[in-house]
This record gives sequence, structure tokens and C-alpha cells, in this order.
Amino acid sequence: MNSRLNTDVLIIGSGIAGLFAALKISEYADVILVTKKDKDESNTNYAQGGIASVTSKYDSFENHIKDTIATGAGLCNEKMVRIMVEEGPQRVKDLIEIGTHFSKKDGEFDLALEGGHSVPRILHAKDLTGKEIETALIRKVNSIKNIEIMENTLAIDLITEHNVKKLKHSPLQSRNCWGSYVLDSYTRRVIKISAKVTILATGGLGQVYQHTTNPSIATGDGIAMAYRAGAKIANMEFIQFHPTSFYKKGNTNVSGISFLISEALRGFGGKLLTNNGKEFIHQYDERKELAPRDIVARAIDFELKKHGDQYVLLDVSHKRAEEIIDHFPNIYQYCLGEGIDITKEPIPVVPAAHYSCGGILVNEYSSASFRGLYACGEVSMTGVHGANRLASNSLLEAVVFANRAALDIERFLKESKFDFPDIPDWDDTGTLTSEEKILISHNFKALKTIMWDYVSIVRNNQQLERAAKRIDLIFQEVEDFYKRTKIFSELLELRNLITCAQVIVKSAIMRKESRGLHYTLDYPSMSNLAEDTVLQNTQL
Ligand code: FAD
Ligand code: SIN
Repeated sequence: MNSRLNTDVLIIGSGIAGLFAALKISEYADVILVTKKDKDESNTNYAQGGIASVTSKYDSFENHIKDTIATGAGLCNEKMVRIMVEEGPQRVKDLIEIGTHFSKKDGEFDLALEGGHSVPRILHAKDLTGKEIETALIRKVNSIKNIEIMENTLAIDLITEHNVKKLKHSPLQSRNCWGSYVLDSYTRRVIKISAKVTILATGGLGQVYQHTTNPSIATGDGIAMAYRAGAKIANMEFIQFHPTSFYKKGNTNVSGISFLISEALRGFGGKLLTNNGKEFIHQYDERKELAPRDIVARAIDFELKKHGDQYVLLDVSHKRAEEIIDHFPNIYQYCLGEGIDITKEPIPVVPAAHYSCGGILVNEYSSASFRGLYACGEVSMTGVHGANRLASNSLLEAVVFANRAALDIERFLKESKFDFPDIPDWDDTGTLTSEEKILISHNFKALKTIMWDYVSIVRNNQQLERAAKRIDLIFQEVEDFYKRTKIFSELLELRNLITCAQVIVKSAIMRKESRGLHYTLDYPSMSNLAEDTVLQNTQL
């Protein structure tokens, strides 16, 4: 049995981007916000280091722009970077106004330093910045009557011409988005939500890799949905590996979630050492521990392979114990739980998949390639990160472009006439309920291993081609299962991860150079041509 709902604006995702957009949009329109688990479960909630923004008299917009562009390895869109940096301080004020408390020292923001930043500019709430922001946003959103939040509700597919039979073959460049089919994860009931505007704020896709700092929700659903519907997706080869996640011997949890050891620890004076206690990072970049992430992650990868080691070490034990515990209480407690007192001994660390710089291609108002479809936060590709994101620019990008989406949607709702076609109900006739969970868990593991082994920090053509073939086999098997089976969350997430993996590999094969986060042994230098990789599914 199907149900129907309708609203002005449907927002998919309850991280910083979705919640911030909801707040702004609720000032002039009704919002339904769906989120696939509990509302605070998001990458945002785990953000540690903080949010980069120019708030100090020792800093300037030009500095922040320069650092962002230098880190982006020649591929940042300067206009978009300028927007993000210049509008950043106002959005930070908005966060403070709704009740976010950033750490202070002597009455001023206690600004931290991270890799690629030329001055301290990271506002943080100790090492739990994401939780502080997420909690403040949820508290505020809960108090607003015209925002309806539906938890444990997973968006399955966008509603566009591609799922209205008689409109199926209409041209991609003039498509509309009319909402989404969503799954109530408990009852397995599919609900059709029609909306004048749909915002994808579904976050990242770290779960496509065997080892990731991302929680289990990060399954690239928004990118896969948009790709399936024919929207443009860009720069998916640029997967950021965070240099330092906690190395846990024999970490075999299926989701492969690794605890992050914040870059702020290196900004605080943390030293990277090989397993036998030798400094090495000066051989790779004169900025040493504070070089951009692509460089540090590659250096660690190289050292691990050179020595056959499982991890390198990150040492802050030369700093004052009280200071360490005061600034990094969460990391301190976590490590203590794992038997490491970071005030006395170094932390074993390894790189892990962390962030997707690519995503749904949007303009300066977060509008994607269909009328009525917007994307903001990690799921989007605004152009601000180029080939490598500057640390702590993600939370900033999310609030700046969520705000811009809200501004544009107000205009769009006023100026537009809405003519909804007869949208079909979800059709699952002929499918059977299956409990064949082994097919899901097996393919989930296989996909993550392929991506980790063949599409990681250092790539080559042969491995990328091999990955493409193996992922296609998994795709066929899961697609066949999908067509025969009544849908459930894990199946949809696996299907989405497979699509993301295909898009990442395709983009990586297309880029015939090494740039930022995409490093390939077959083309080890950067070309003179700095271009985005844009993919669009035309098989609709
Ligand atoms: P998210 O916060 O991930 O929210 C996505 C939401 O969408 C979730 O609610 C999810 O459940 C929901 N969702 C997904 N798919 C569906 C679906 N199909 N249907 C319904 N709902 C769905 N960045 C910084 O700038 N500074 C930092 O200090 C920092 N630290 C980080 C630390 C960690 C451990 C991690 C993992 C990331 C960190 N990042 C940091 C990156 C940053 O946290 C994320 O990029 C950012 O929070 C993304 O926000 P978002 O709103 O786009 O997505
Ligand atoms: C960190 O705290 O190291 C994460 C910061 C980020 O991803 O920007």
C-alpha cells in the first residue's frame, strides 16, 4: 500500500546542510525533512577539527581564498571560493545565534591551525565541533512548526520525468524534479512525497571504502539518485583520504569505521613518526605535518609500503598533558579506551577514506541540473574544493551554500507555476520478500575491498580497469536481486554504493594526469589543462 504526501520543499538529510537549509526555508515555506536514521546521525555529528572562517584581525579573506585555491591543486572555481570565504563569517554568526558555542580563550575565539592554512582560523568546540553544531541546529529545527521531520525514512529515488512513463524520453536539459519516493525503514512502506523543490543534503560516501572515518549513513545515496535520474555529477575521482585515523589491530567491523584523529592535533604540534620513531614528513613537503592532506596521506602511504608497516605514529606527548586533555577530550578518552594515553605515548595512525570532493554539479545557488532540484553539503560539487579540500572548509561550504539555496528557492517558488504530472505510485508488483541478507553483506564487503585495494591513494590504469570489471559483476548481481525483491534499506544503500563506485572509477579513468587527491602511476605529473570531470547518465 502506498501513501502520498506533499509539501513546498522536501529536504533529504539532517546534517548541517539539510538542517541549515530547513531553518532558512521555514521562514517562507513548508518543509518536510526526511532522514534515514535518527536525526542526529550524520557525518556532521562526528566532525572534530572545526569550521574555517575569517574572524581574526590577523587574517583576511584574501588569505583564506589563497590557501583554499593552493590546496585545491589548480582546480578550484575561484568565484565559488570567494563566495564561500566572504559569506562565511555571517553564516558562522548564524550558527552562534542559534546556540552553537565555539571554544574561546581570553574572551576571543580559540582559533586552531590545520594543514594548508597559513594562519590559525578554525573555530571549534574542543574536538566535538560537529556534535555542538548538530545539537544546536536540531534544537532550533525542533522548535519550528512548519518543519516536519521524518526519521528512519530513506529516500529511494528522485521523481523526475524518468519515472513518469509517458515523459520518460524527454530531454535531459529540460527535466524537472517533483519530489522523491521514500521508504519507511520499519514498515517497509514506500511513500511518494511530491514537492515543488527537492534538496539533496545526503552527505558523503566514505562507506564505499574498506576503511573510512565516515559513519554507516555515508553511502552516497544522493549522488546515486541524482546520477540515476540523469543529473550531472562532477570530479568524483577526488576522494580525500584523511592521513590520520586510529589504527586498530585487526579492525574487522563490516562498516570499517575508523576513529578520526583530528588534523588539529598536528596543528597543535603533533609529530608524525615512523613505526620505529623516525621523523619522515620533512622529506615530502617543507610544511611538514601541516602540508595539505593529499600530500601527507600519500607520504604515509609511501612510508607504510616502503617499510611494510601497518601504521605510523602521531605524537603529542611532548605537549602539556592538561592542554592536550582540555583541547582534545574526545580523542584523549577514545585512545585511553584503546589502551593509549596520548599525554604519554604516540598514537598509531593510518589514512582512511574521509570526504568526497566531487558530487552533484551545482551553480552558485546550489541549483543542480534539473528545475526544482538543489544539492548542498558534501553531496554537491560547488567547485570550492577543486582537487583537494582544505581542512575544515566542508562545514563552511555546507552552511554558505545551504543559505544560498534557501535564497534562490524563495525566488523560484514566487516566480514559478507548478504543474505536476500524474506521478505513479511505487510499483513493486512481482517482487518477493527476501531475507537473503548474505548477498548484501558479501557484496558490501567485496565492493569495499575492491575500492580499497584498487582505487585508493595511489592508482594505476590496470587496477582501475580491474576494479571497473569487478564492480560491474557486483552491479549485475545486485541489480537482478533488486528487480526481484521487495526493497529494504541495506539493499538500497548497497545499490547506491555500487553506483558511486562506478562513477568514481569512471572519473578516475577519465583523468589522464595526477592532480591533488588523484595520483596515478601512469600519469605522474599534472597536465596544463585544469578541467572538471563531468558525468551524466544518458541511458534513461
Ligand atoms: P551529513 O552531515 O553527512 O548529513 C547527511 C544526512 O543525510 C544524514 O542525516 C543522513 O542520514 C542523511 N541521508 C543520507 N542518505 C539519505 C537517504 N537516502 N534518505 C534520507 N536521508 C539520507 N569537515 C569540516 O569542515 N570540519 C571538520 O572538523 C570535519 N571533521 C570531520 C570528522 C569526521 C569523523 C568526518 C566523517 C567528517 C568530518 N568533516 C569535517 C567533514 C564534514 O563533517 C562533512 O563533510 C559534513 O558534515 C557534511 O555535512 P552534510 O550535511 O552534507 O552531510
Ligand atoms: C579533522 O578534524 O581533522 C577533520 C577536519 C576536516 O575534515 O576538515
